[in-house]
Amino acid sequence: MAEKKSILKALAGEAQEVPPIWMMRQAGRYLPEYRATRAKAGDFLSLCYNSELAAEVTLQPIRRYDFDASILFADILLLPQALGADLWFVTGEGPRLSTIETHSDFQKLKHAGDVHEHLAPIYETLRILGRELPEKTTLIGFAGAPWTVATYMIAGRGTPDQGPAHKLMVENRALFDAVMDLLTEATVEYLSAQIEAGAEVVKLFDSWAGSLEGDEFTRYSLEPQRKIIAALKARHPNTPIIAFPRGAGERFEGFAKATGADCVALDDGVTPEWAAKHVQKDGCVQGNLKSSHMVTGGEDLVRETRHIVEAFKGGPHIFNLGHGITPDADPDNVQLMIDTVRGG
Ligand code: CP3
Repeated sequence: MAEKKSILKALAGEAQEVPPIWMMRQAGRYLPEYRATRAKAGDFLSLCYNSELAAEVTLQPIRRYDFDASILFADILLLPQALGADLWFVTGEGPRLSTIETHSDFQKLKHAGDVHEHLAPIYETLRILGRELPEKTTLIGFAGAPWTVATYMIAGRGTPDQGPAHKLMVENRALFDAVMDLLTEATVEYLSAQIEAGAEVVKLFDSWAGSLEGDEFTRYSLEPQRKIIAALKARHPNTPIIAFPRGAGERFEGFAKATGADCVALDDGVTPEWAAKHVQKDGCVQGNLKSSHMVTGGEDLVRETRHIVEAFKGGPHIFNLGHGITPDADPDNVQLMIDTVRGG
């Protein structure tokens, strides 16, 4: 039997001499080959729904860098689109969607089980990747966590403070809860289908978890993820799940136990020493180099990369950035980070 892949060992709780490594947004605008394929597809959404080209951009960083994992090329906002929301991207600004302000906006949406036809090209991308990825590379699927996706669906765009979602939560709790419940169910459907199409690991991105305070964090970040993970584990007990409650701070502690996640992905708001002591004690952690090192490089990058590897050495760890790589990053700095992790 082939040796277990390095990421799967980490997710099973094994400490390794050299941690496996991949990078959020590893297929993206900092790579000239990505920009070329995106131009060929026409725009970002056309690229996401073109299975051949989406598989091609997913493979680009694997060919260039030999990462241990490959993340499906798609977006967290494809699920609201599959539920019937309008979605488009304004170049240089970001996503735009239809908004949810009233119960009648909500009633226009589809049921959780009705998303698969729209998302069929995404499942096809995973099947292509299952055939084309190198044997040792782990294929990761993903979805947004309900709170983060809800912030975009309610506001119709990205917002600095997730204000419209917070407002709806207070002013029309029943409607807000209905949106959250629909997203929770639809996410189970979506990730289950991704696993059936070949995803070996799945990750939940709760990019705006940090703006939930007190009980709201438990109710709207932790609890929906706990439900999704329980439902996925019932259907696919052997598929590891990574949770990324970005901005959770001290609430990273206990998050894996409370949700059933196999790994907690850390942003760069916590020190690796603190996280080794308080989060890694419960299992695998992923992270957490500041993305800006991919722009600035040099001695600082090498020192911080070594620091993180050293701090997490005693337990299961997957090396990654604390958030996605940015378009202004220098591709050479990515290689420097990898070389440093693997022995430099
Ligand atoms: O990590 C990966 O490489 C996998 C693919 C992936 C993308 N988006 C591709 C993408 C993943 C996992 C995401 C997640 C995502 N999408 C999140 C959560 C993670 C995070 O970054 O916090 C969020 C909030 C979104 C929504 C989204 N998509 C926004 C706000 C934007 C515009 C901002 C931007 O960076 O331009 C996107 C666009 C997007 N998603 C791009 C990529 C490669 C850039 C699109 C382009 O080519 O112009």
